[in-house]
Amino acid sequence: MKKIQSQIQTGSAVYQENRRTMLTQLKLISDLGLMQEKSRSKRQVTQHVKKGKWLVMDRINALIDAETDFLELSPLAGVDLYEDALPKGGIVTGVGQIEGIECMIIANDATVKAGTYFPITVKKHLRAQAIAEKNRLPCLYLVDSGGAFLPRQAEVYPDRDHFGRIFFNQARMSAKGIPQIAVVMGSCTAGGAYIPAMSDETIIVKKQGTIFLGGPPLVKAATGEESSEEELGGGDLHTRMSGVADYLARDDAHALLLARECVASQKNSLKTRQRHRTLYGRSESHAPAYSEDELLGLVSMSSQKTFDILELIARISDGSQFHEFKPRYGKSLRCGFAKIDGFEVGIVANNGILFSESALKGTHFIQLCDKRGIPLVFLQNVVGFMVGRHYEKEGIAKHGAKMVTAVSTTRVPKFTVIVGGSYGAGNYAMCGRAYDPNFLFIWPTARTSVMGSEQAATVLTQIKADQYQRTGNVMSEAERVEIREHILKKYDNEGAAVYSTARLFDDGIINPKETRKILSRCLAVAHDADPSFEGSFGLFRM
Ligand code: COA
Repeated sequence: MKKIQSQIQTGSAVYQENRRTMLTQLKLISDLGLMQEKSRSKRQVTQHVKKGKWLVMDRINALIDAETDFLELSPLAGVDLYEDALPKGGIVTGVGQIEGIECMIIANDATVKAGTYFPITVKKHLRAQAIAEKNRLPCLYLVDSGGAFLPRQAEVYPDRDHFGRIFFNQARMSAKGIPQIAVVMGSCTAGGAYIPAMSDETIIVKKQGTIFLGGPPLVKAATGEESSEEELGGGDLHTRMSGVADYLARDDAHALLLARECVASQKNSLKTRQRHRTLYGRSESHAPAYSEDELLGLVSMSSQKTFDILELIARISDGSQFHEFKPRYGKSLRCGFAKIDGFEVGIVANNGILFSESALKGTHFIQLCDKRGIPLVFLQNVVGFMVGRHYEKEGIAKHGAKMVTAVSTTRVPKFTVIVGGSYGAGNYAMCGRAYDPNFLFIWPTARTSVMGSEQAATVLTQIKADQYQRTGNVMSEAERVEIREHILKKYDNEGAAVYSTARLFDDGIINPKETRKILSRCLAVAHDADPSFEGSFGLFRM
């Protein structure tokens, strides 16, 4: 494989300005995280700890193997979505190793509105389950929640991707042999009671965990029967009489130990199954020849200022090596084979606008990776597909559709990182959120929207001006400026990485320096992934 020759001038004014902007954005994001933490209700934290319960991150750290990293997903979910702050969306999700097995951990944070489910909480829980199902990760639910956030019931209860979907997912994953383990460490009421009830194995903490369909006040109102929480749904009742839970733990520490034992007891069967699957290739890892720190000055916040995507590949691939496919054809899309931390991957990366040839090349390359069983990494920096009479005449829509077909139906794991702009159908062809990548991350300065703010402002101002013209009126300059400014502002806000991550359009904002490390972890996680689509590709429009 050929080594990429970097041309970056780290002393240049452009590089230095990009780097300053990136560091500012990283600081803003870290401050946002701290602010979220500070917004936690002190009363609820004190009350939680007083009950002898551990805080959610302490629970997770005790559950995973010592000295291993927890790959937390979407830590900024929920930012600025509701009147009250909802740190992390009220739930912590992420991938952690237990007994050397990669697992999905989904843990309620009872110090945030009693761990109740807001719309974003439900979305985050379901996304974590989707990742688990796609990558065949055992699920551990650390339950401590007041269930649905009742004032918002219409946004969390009735629809397909609402609260009920959690249990549907549990049943289906269990059927596929993906372990479902619940640890009831606090409240677990009404619909929430189904999380432990639907699990393969359930642990409950003595005199702390409760499971019931209706709490004491509801029961009293409904039937007049009076009972304490413990009598109605405590650990003793459920492990000795009802059988809703399987193991009684003394406290949080003991419960988490039992959860680790549940994973350990199936370690051999999980490992054996893993060995019998088609494993994606991995060999010895080599560091890139160029410093990953240099990624901080690579991109500008403006999509007008471009950069060579090979510079990024040079800083994430082993030895900075890249075997480029069709290097002389459709050059606005760079495709090729590389290794990331020893994992074989096919990289599809934008280097400008997408033309018909770039889409054809991308489609061909995705087919190659699919047939060879090589996972795909998409590096997005795309303003979209080329427009204009010439391009429509040559059928750019059907060529783009081929790439979208290939991305939609390939069986190999897919990983997407939005590093610059991600606009229009370019986002689709490059495996955006709707195309089910196993994981999707975004850089702090990246932007995503249906089109760029300038273009949207121009289109909408023109539409308004045409309307005026049809009725014999003329749009004033002040009106034109007002419409334009409004759209520019709206797109600037909605296109930002923080806006995206708060709403779970991605799995988290990442520091560019950690792109290789995070991709490597995700590749390791996806090693046991089930080819989700057994057939061949869909029909390519020729
Ligand atoms: N919907 C909306 N808000 C809820 C809620 C729910 N299901 N459960 C709790 N809350 C809110 C409380 O109003 C309170 O809000 P505030 O801080 O703004 O005052 C906050 O969450 C903390 O609740 P609190 O009761 O003080 O916490 P706790 O630790 O003493 O008790 C529970 C926690 C979960 C045992 C208790 O709140 C409870 O029983 N909630 C109702 C559970 C239920 O019936 N759920 C049905 C869902 S279908």
